[in-house]
Amino acid sequence: MSQPRVLRIAMNGVTGRMGYRQHLLRSILPIRDQGGITLPDGSRVTVEPILVGRSAAKLEELARRHGVEHWSTDLDALIADPTVDIVFDASMTSLRASTLRKAMSAGKHVFTEKPTAETLREAVELARVGRESGVTAGVVHDKLYLPGLVKLRRLVDEGFFGRILSVRGEFGYWVFEGEHQEAQRPSWNYRREDGGSMTTDMYCHWNYVLEGIVGPVRSVTSTAVTHIPARWDEQGHEYPATADDAAYGVFECETPAGDPVIAQINSSWAVRVYRDELVEFQVDGTHGSAVAGLTKCVAQQRAHTPKPVWNPDLPVTESFRDQWLEVPANAELDNGFKAQWEEFLADVVAGREHRFGLLSAARGVQLAELGLQSSAERRTVDIPELELTPEAGEDADRAADPETAGALR
Ligand SMILES: NC(=O)c1ccc[n+]([C@@H]2O[C@H](COP(=O)([O-])OP(=O)(O)OC[C@H]3O[C@@H](n4cnc5c(N)ncnc54)[C@H](O)[C@@H]3O)[C@@H](O)[C@H]2O)c1
Repeated sequence: MSQPRVLRIAMNGVTGRMGYRQHLLRSILPIRDQGGITLPDGSRVTVEPILVGRSAAKLEELARRHGVEHWSTDLDALIADPTVDIVFDASMTSLRASTLRKAMSAGKHVFTEKPTAETLREAVELARVGRESGVTAGVVHDKLYLPGLVKLRRLVDEGFFGRILSVRGEFGYWVFEGEHQEAQRPSWNYRREDGGSMTTDMYCHWNYVLEGIVGPVRSVTSTAVTHIPARWDEQGHEYPATADDAAYGVFECETPAGDPVIAQINSSWAVRVYRDELVEFQVDGTHGSAVAGLTKCVAQQRAHTPKPVWNPDLPVTESFRDQWLEVPANAELDNGFKAQWEEFLADVVAGREHRFGLLSAARGVQLAELGLQSSAERRTVDIPELELTPEAGEDADRAADPETAGALR
C-alpha cells in the first residue's frame, strides 16, 4: 500500500483553550493517530502538526506530552517555509486577520477559529485575499457539525417542519467572576479593548447556524448588556469588564422558499442553566417542532401534538417533555471540530473551496457588528448582502456605516 500524503500544519495558538482542547487534542492528534483519512479515490492523507506559540517552554512540554516532533515560536518563519501546507490559527481574535493575510499571501491554505477579524472591513478584505490567492480557506463552523444540529438539519431536509415559523435559541451558563472561584473563560473575553464581547463571540456562530438551518439573516434587533461590571483575571487582579457579557437578539431570516422566519437567541455568561444542554434551539413549523442541543435532538409532529388548555387554577397534569420523540443519529457522528477538519483536509487535497470559507465568516462578523450597532442605536438594522466585488472593502464600509447600512441589498 502506498504511503499517505502528509500535510504539514503550523498550529498557532495551540496553548490556548480552543487550540489545545478542540483542535490539537480532539482533532489533529486523533486524525494523526488513526493514520489520516481516506479520500474518495482510495488514497490516504495524514497530518503532521507543528506547534506554534510565544512560550518555548509550554510548546516543548506540549510537544513532549503528545509525541509531536516539531514546535516553534517563529510563526513568520513557518509561513515562509515551503514545506508547510496549512496555517491554522486559534490565537487571540485581535491578532488573527494579520496572520491569515500573511499566510494566504504566502500561498498557504488556512484553517481558522472564528471570528476571522474584528471588523467587517478586515473580514471582507480577508475573503478577497483568499479568493485572489486561490488557497483553500476554512473557518470553524463547529456548531453545524454537532450531532444535535446535524439531526436538526436532517429534519429540515426531510420536510419535517412544513413551513418553518420560528427559532428560539438559548445559550449560556454562569461564568464565575474569578474572585473566589476561577473563571472558566479567559479574561480578555470580558475586555472590549482586547477583542472580547458576547456579541462578537457568538453572533458569528448564530449567523452560520441560522443560515445553515433556515436561511440567511435579513435583519437584527439586539440588546447587548454588561451584567457583571467587574471581574478578576488569571493573576487574581480585579479589572473592569468593558465588554458585553450578554446579548438578546431577534433575527429575521428568510428560507430558500422566501418565507420569513423569526429567530430569537439569548446568549449570556450571566445565566444559570435549567436546560438539558448549554445551547438549545427550538424550531417550530406548521407540521412539527424540534429541539436540538449539542448532541440530542427531540421532535414532535403535528399528529402527536397534545392540546394543552390554559388553566392557572390547576397544577399541570401532563409531562410536556415526555411528549417528544428522540431523533436517532442513524450514523456515527464524530466530534464536530474533527469532522470539519477532515472535510477541510480533503478539500485541500482536491484543490477546491471549503464550504464554510472566509465570506461566510465575514457575514458572521457583519452580524456581530450590526448587532452591536442595533444595540447602541436601539433599533432594527437591515443586513446588506455581502459580495466580493473589487470594491468589497468599500461596500463593507458602507454596510457598517449607520447612514448607508441596508443600501446594499
Ligand atoms: N469555535 C468556538 O466555539 C470557540 C469557542 C471559544 C473561543 N473561540 C475562538 O478561539 C480563539 C481563542 O480563544 P480561546 O478561548 O482559546 O482563548 P485563549 O486565551 O485560551 O487562547 C488564546 C491563545 O492565543 C495566545 N495569545 C494570547 N495573547 C497573545 C499575544 N499577545 N500574542 C500571541 N499570542 C497570544 C495564547 O497564548 C493562547 O495560545 C478566539 O478567537 C475565540 O473567538 C472559538
